Amino acid sequence: MLKGKKIVLGITGSIAAYKACYIIRGLQKKGAEVQVVITPAGKEFITPITLSALTHKPVISEFFSQRDGTWNSHVDIGLWADAMLIAPCTASTLGKMANGVADNMLVTTYLSMKAPVFIAPAMDLDMYAHPSTKRNIDILTGYGCRFIEPASGFLASGLEGKGRMQEPEVIVDAIDHFFNAPSQDLSGRKILITAGPTYEKIDPVRFIGNYSSGKMGFAIAEECARRGAQVQLVAGPVSMTVNHHNINRVDVESCQQMYEACMDIFPNVDVAILCAAVADFRPETVADTKIKRKGDDLMLHLAPNKDIAAALGNIKNNRQVMVGFALETDNEENNAVEKLKKKNLDFIVLNSLKNKGTCFKSDENQIKIISQDGMTEFERKPKTEVAADIVNYLAQIMKPITLS
Ligand code: C5P
Repeated sequence: MLKGKKIVLGITGSIAAYKACYIIRGLQKKGAEVQVVITPAGKEFITPITLSALTHKPVISEFFSQRDGTWNSHVDIGLWADAMLIAPCTASTLGKMANGVADNMLVTTYLSMKAPVFIAPAMDLDMYAHPSTKRNIDILTGYGCRFIEPASGFLASGLEGKGRMQEPEVIVDAIDHFFNAPSQDLSGRKILITAGPTYEKIDPVRFIGNYSSGKMGFAIAEECARRGAQVQLVAGPVSMTVNHHNINRVDVESCQQMYEACMDIFPNVDVAILCAAVADFRPETVADTKIKRKGDDLMLHLAPNKDIAAALGNIKNNRQVMVGFALETDNEENNAVEKLKKKNLDFIVLNSLKNKGTCFKSDENQIKIISQDGMTEFERKPKTEVAADIVNYLAQIMKPITLS
């Protein structure tokens, strides 16, 4: 997110100027405030009226406002901004910026800019390939400007695709990433996460299950991966997808399958986060064919399932960290403390069914974290933010990696 960030968007005279509208919209959607500064040539390609309607601010292009003669202070804009983005940026503006030719508001603003500067060049390939453009890019890179461009292709020249302005959403993402690059505090860590429900078969078409959606576990997996961990995500039957390349997903259905996958993975990880809502019981026998209605009632005999958390807690070494979850309906905190001990957990995340609109299926959760050291309460928030709270807590208690 770019909430509260103030971005100066410089627009120059390229056919790609119309794409500035999408950049403005993209930045605004992430919460940024946008002030446009445009060159005289830029105005030939897109009207200031369109731009001021989108940004809800007058567009700055002249040193003096035409109406009342007030002076537009480039120094003030330079101090106001959290970032300046020039998109599209022509060869001419690149040259002026590199050489301090301050004959318009945009270049003048650039020269006064105190914030990071991003440049998305837009020109045809011949202009891009000219040594003077290359030199100007090198000079500006040396001045700390960050270029946002399509990656070069595989032609012999290495320039295929260059010169064309990068797509607006990629530009917006690059700015977002600059401000919100995740810390890599879990880099080098291996983490096992269980998520979702388990299904315990009754016959070929029926099962015993629960309402778990897997959202909390998947959000934790994404957060750990974003922060550099290698994640093994053992997922029960859920309709969720994983996005991060650091997540290896293993799909299972029953508690027994989840247990086997976890026992296999656990010896090789530093952390296990057991977020799955594992069925505590399973039908003792699974019918080979669909059970038919006979008489009035049907007796199912249930056998206890393995407690995966307790089994891992038994073989855990003192360098491994284990995190459990507790979903309770009553006597919550005492039950959670009980589980912390019984399952040999380092901390337990307590969520309560008493909080309406949290837990199962919901996008929000309200948690308490309980460890030997006491209890921390958190506010109700989206599961992605709850995931960050849990992972922050985890990162704090982890021992530093020692090289052996
Ligand atoms: O005892 P209870 O099922 O409430 O404990 C919940 C915690 O134990 C969760 O972290 C859950 O993932 C884990 N668990 C497990 N295997 C089970 C039951 C629960 O790993 N069979």
